Amino acid sequence: MAGEAVGTPKHVVVFGALPPDQLARLQAAHQVTVTNPKADPAAFEAALAQAEGLIGASYPITPALLDKAPRLRVVSSVSVGVDNYPLAALQQRGIVLCHTPGVLDETVADTVFGLLMATSRRMVELANLVREGRWAKSVGEDLYGWDVHHKTIGLLGFGRIGQAIARRAALGFGMQVLYHARRPVDLATQAPELVGKATHTPLAELLPRADFVVAMLPLSDTTRGMLNAELFAQMKPGSIFINGGRGATVDEAALLHALDHGPLRAAGLDVFAKEPLPTASPLRTHPRVTPLPHIGSATAETRHAMAALAVTNLLQVLAGEQATAAYDTAAA
Ligand code: DGY
Repeated sequence: MAGEAVGTPKHVVVFGALPPDQLARLQAAHQVTVTNPKADPAAFEAALAQAEGLIGASYPITPALLDKAPRLRVVSSVSVGVDNYPLAALQQRGIVLCHTPGVLDETVADTVFGLLMATSRRMVELANLVREGRWAKSVGEDLYGWDVHHKTIGLLGFGRIGQAIARRAALGFGMQVLYHARRPVDLATQAPELVGKATHTPLAELLPRADFVVAMLPLSDTTRGMLNAELFAQMKPGSIFINGGRGATVDEAALLHALDHGPLRAAGLDVFAKEPLPTASPLRTHPRVTPLPHIGSATAETRHAMAALAVTNLLQVLAGEQATAAYDTAAA
């Protein structure tokens, strides 16, 4: 397997958990220290002193942490998103950043489309009615949901995952697909099945037309807080907002205002500005919010595939090879 045949063992620090077979791949080639920085940050920081490779997820790696890791050559994230990493500092120090694109696209698209369905058809609310023994008669108008099929979906962000959501919407549910991205996607080469079925649309036109606005934006200086009061105010009355990208792209106070005072009917959220969602957050109990605990890629198969790709990336860089999926920190 790529990167497996290495020379001298290097110091590798795992932050978080890896599946046993993937940890074994690392241990077969390198000297591995497994840490849990959330539980014991001091042990993690001490391990950084020797680290040449770092692999893990869901923990912010700051420039100050990089200062404690003078030998570091590669950071391999078990995620596609790279917002937990200081891109400029990694670039300056010549440290390679790797991530896990591709292997999670269909799974995240399943989650986001499922969340859209659950929110529009009020599935969690109505499942609770059954569980709590409150199903006493056929549901009436007050508990009706809203159709998904043949409606208009507006995708903010149209990368691989956005395109996978668009395929579900257009080919499975007969929906009209509008998308907003920095530039139009060449559908003929990138997503031929969407030719004639997805339209690049300016935000000012997409927001008032979409019955479902689905945000799939990465978090960057440009997108932080992008979904603000001004944009929510432009959304169609009675529309539903779904966020499957990053929570901090949304001004949550503005979202709550749009839910309570219009134009939004409901929201389905897999991601939040602060995770885990603080118990005091009004989004946790809002009757028209369907909240999920950031489960976009969280299936057994996909999380394993992500870990396997992250280990491959790390082994490749430590062996002096090109990583399968290096992130271009210079372009950030
Ligand atoms: C990612 O990989 O960035 C997803 O958000 C997984 O949690």
